Amino acid sequence: MTEAVKKLIDTLHDAHTLTTEEYERLVVGYSTEAAAYAAQKADAMRRRVFGNTVFIRGLIEVSNLCRNDCYYCGIRCSNEKCDRYCLTAKQILECCEEGYQLGFRTFVLQGGEGCLAVDDVTSTVREIKRRYPDCAVTLSLGEYSFEEYRRMRESGADRYLLRHETADREHYERLHPSSMSFDNRMRCLHDLRVLGFQVGCGFMVGSPYQTPRHIATDLKFIEEFAPEMCGIGPFIPQKDTPLGDHPAGTADLTVYLLSLLRLMHPELLLPATTALGSIGSDGRERGIRAGANVIMPNLSPPSERQKYALYDNKLSSGDESAQAVAHLRLSMQTIGYEIVNARGDHPDAHIQN
Ligand code: 5AD
Repeated sequence: MTEAVKKLIDTLHDAHTLTTEEYERLVVGYSTEAAAYAAQKADAMRRRVFGNTVFIRGLIEVSNLCRNDCYYCGIRCSNEKCDRYCLTAKQILECCEEGYQLGFRTFVLQGGEGCLAVDDVTSTVREIKRRYPDCAVTLSLGEYSFEEYRRMRESGADRYLLRHETADREHYERLHPSSMSFDNRMRCLHDLRVLGFQVGCGFMVGSPYQTPRHIATDLKFIEEFAPEMCGIGPFIPQKDTPLGDHPAGTADLTVYLLSLLRLMHPELLLPATTALGSIGSDGRERGIRAGANVIMPNLSPPSERQKYALYDNKLSSGDESAQAVAHLRLSMQTIGYEIVNARGDHPDAHIQN
């Protein structure tokens, strides 16, 4: 690690801000040593804010129907090989019940973009909140209008995850067809913020055509947008997509970026994602040790899990499954962290119950 990289990591730790050029130098300056240095500082920072706690979210993949056509994603609407499904409200509620018994106090309803009718979303959210008033509901269902988001928020949803995917317009346009719009994606994130959701953005590490400059632009965007949550994971090719022969992103760079995000926003809810767990056997543990503080085990019905195939070789029915949460608790304890049964809100969030 050069002295310059060490100094930049120290500045990020102390001031929580860098210029785009400086972020780029940090990305280009990646080395195992720099990553170890950043991870150690990020872990200390995370312990100051959150102690050794790890929040868990029960991930319910409600549907793989999708109206979008992202070139990298296995559930894009043009992929005819994708075996489509959509859970009923009853199935979603059964997932919640199982999750509640397992100790989950946040349920994440994730699905292909725009796949669910807003009335179905709001009635399901209302019912979850009625049955489990002590739980948070996170939605991750893609792009909708302000009015539609407003109805979702009024039904009681607390948080919304919508990865920005890339903060560089040209890069965005290489990853998506012209029917999709960078400006609309950014509009959605701002609307969600205005409506009082705890908001999560994020991007893929090592996505096709991504340069260090793009990653630096993502980091600067995340610094300025200051989301409550941020999901990053390596790009993993899916063979039936137009970008299926591009190489995967690496766990090493993803883990390093998790540390930088922790130093940038000490209070960020930062998951070690399924994609990170899917490319290396100990990816999630490495993420947690480097500053991540959230894990999202899968609560979806086991029969549908492989159908939610954003990328190839997705982890399923192993340790990432919600049913394995007891084992996850033990493996986290072994490395010095504790999974808690709590909603795990952002420290600044205003919770109305
Ligand atoms: N590899 C990794 N992540 C992917 N996503 C979609 N396709 C892939 C892939 N091939 C991510 C996108 C999306 C999230 C739900 O999953 O960032 O927002």
